[in-house]
Amino acid sequence: MHFFNVPTAVLQLFVLLILASPTTACTKQEKCYLLRFLAGLSRDGGLATSWRDSSTDCCEWLGITCNGDGAVTEVSLASRGLEGRISRSLADLTSLLHVNLSYNSFSGGLPPELMSSRSIIVLDVSFCQLNGPLPELPSLVTTDWPLQVLNISSNQFSSEFPSATWKMMKNLIALNASNNSFTGQIPSSLCLGSPSLALLDLCYNQLSGDIPTALGDCSKLKVLKVGHNNLSGTLPVEIFCATSLEYLSFPNNALQGELDGAHIVKLSNLLTLDLGGNSFSGNFPESIDQLRRLEELHLGSNKMSGELPSTLSNCTHLKTTLISRSTTSVEIWAISTSPPFKV
Ligand SMILES: *[C@@H]1O[C@H](CO)[C@@H](O)[C@H](O)[C@H]1NC(C)=O
Ligand SMILES: *[C@@H]1O[C@H](CO)[C@@H](O)[C@H](O)[C@H]1NC(C)=O
Ligand SMILES: *[C@@H]1O[C@H](CO)[C@@H](O)[C@H](O)[C@H]1NC(C)=O
Ligand SMILES: *[C@@H]1O[C@H](CO)[C@@H](O)[C@H](O)[C@H]1NC(C)=O
Ligand SMILES: *[C@@H]1O[C@H](CO)[C@@H](O)[C@H](O)[C@H]1NC(C)=O
Ligand SMILES: *[C@@H]1O[C@H](CO)[C@@H](O)[C@H](O)[C@H]1NC(C)=O
Repeated sequence: MHFFNVPTAVLQLFVLLILASPTTACTKQEKCYLLRFLAGLSRDGGLATSWRDSSTDCCEWLGITCNGDGAVTEVSLASRGLEGRISRSLADLTSLLHVNLSYNSFSGGLPPELMSSRSIIVLDVSFCQLNGPLPELPSLVTTDWPLQVLNISSNQFSSEFPSATWKMMKNLIALNASNNSFTGQIPSSLCLGSPSLALLDLCYNQLSGDIPTALGDCSKLKVLKVGHNNLSGTLPVEIFCATSLEYLSFPNNALQGELDGAHIVKLSNLLTLDLGGNSFSGNFPESIDQLRRLEELHLGSNKMSGELPSTLSNCTHLKTTLISRSTTSVEIWAISTSPPFKV
């Protein structure tokens, strides 16, 4: 504090001035885009009043965050009782990074401009009662979209699940489209377009067809959940190349074939394996005991036979095991909270 012998009081004043100096207020243009979003709502849960009463600077509005240049970077309006349409004017906010509109009751669809924004990296519109198709986006632009997290789960989206759209999303890390009414197939080129994909949840839809072999290219994929759909065919051997998988879950589909123990052990990071409620046949793969991190195993309600592998007691982390034998019509459930489990 004695540099240049500046008196402490002057220094303190200087520090105070820096702290108090106003950051740039939002631009007229940015404010206009936010007001256009507001105008698209039929019920705003008091948002208009709150914004009007708080400040003329939109950077100080509820749910809005700006950067030092007065440009909006975040719109965070989850659970605000909003109804009406999501205006595409949000996509005009050129510095917008995070959008969270989850748990509101919108109607209509998701403006495609938000998904193909040149700035947005996190878009969460889960539990928003959005409907209609998710349009296939044109892959005309040459630059990649920055979107990393897309949560469109628990809406009422229907029609064919987009396939080409993901090719432009080189940065996508998490895609949750579960609990909608999507039809069609699991996009086959998902990880070719999005090599960083770590989470893919497509549960509770009406997807059909085979599991694409190209999912084996998903080298970063940790969570793959496509249960409660209408998938058919076998588990392709390629999928065992996705060795980062910790959570592999395809329950309640129409999958069949035998589980090859030699392949399953390649997924040495698995914590959860859920293939219950399908038509898998053959013996329980003994090699499952080599999945040392396994915590949950569900193979119930299939057409598998043979003994429960005694080797399972070597999976020291195993907390839940649901295996049924349906060669007889009796289902035997093995449930354990800690090994050794009982039948
Ligand atoms: C959005 O907000 C909800 C509610 O606060 C929260 O649970 C969710 O994690 C947020 N989404 C993201 C991507 O951060
Ligand atoms: C939506 O998904 C993202 C990515 O998994 C997650 O961070 C976020 O919390 C989810 N939103 C809600 C409301 O659960
Ligand atoms: C996807 O979102 C649903 C809610 O819509 C949530 O229950 C589920 O856990 C999410 N999936 C993952 C893998 O986080
Ligand atoms: C599915 O979405 C509905 C709302 O659309 C919600 O009430 C329900 O809890 C969701 N189910 C799951 C498993 O997330
Ligand atoms: C499921 O797929 C089969 C063909 O694989 C088809 O015959 C059946 O109608 C589908 N069921 C539903 C509910 O879509
Ligand atoms: C558990 O693993 C040990 C060491 O690999 C082995 O000797 C033993 O036979 C295994 N137990 C079972 C039940 O397979």
